Amino acid sequence: MTEKQITIKFHEYQNLEELPEQDRILAKEAISAMKGSYAPYSHFNVGAAIRLSNGKIVQGANQENAAFPSGLCAERTAMFAAGANYPDKDMESIAIAGGVMGRLTKSPVTPCGACRQVMAQYQTKAGRPMSVIMISDSKIWKFNRVDDILPLIFDSI
Ligand code: THU
Repeated sequence: MTEKQITIKFHEYQNLEELPEQDRILAKEAISAMKGSYAPYSHFNVGAAIRLSNGKIVQGANQENAAFPSGLCAERTAMFAAGANYPDKDMESIAIAGGVMGRLTKSPVTPCGACRQVMAQYQTKAGRPMSVIMISDSKIWKFNRVDDILPLIFDSI
């Protein structure tokens, strides 16, 4: 028996201005995407923004429904919009922001497991890493690839 360890490296930034320019632009797009949130039940507004390989940015926001499972997270709303409208373009990076009444969360918004699985598959489809940027009102986390937030991904059928 050998004990193994999985180590995850990521970058923490203290504010938006500290981010590299491309990431800062995407982070601001994710924050502005929160305006599209429809969250009459949770009142938690989430925005996501994806940068494609052609430089285009696609936004998404969480959409809730009275039949709860029919709603969808901001990340998947954005990924499915990007996949449907730009099927030949790679998703290079996704940024996520969330909050209540226009105020960003105190800690970065971390995507749910289902969204991570969908990210993983678009990353596999692209054959190149998709970075994930999680935003809060102060610190920002950047993971260079989806594997870092979903180790031992299932992607092999
Ligand atoms: N939500 C997202 O859109 N993304 C996340 O990463 C976390 C959760 C949404 C789903 C639901 O509309 C609301 O936030 C509360 O869970």
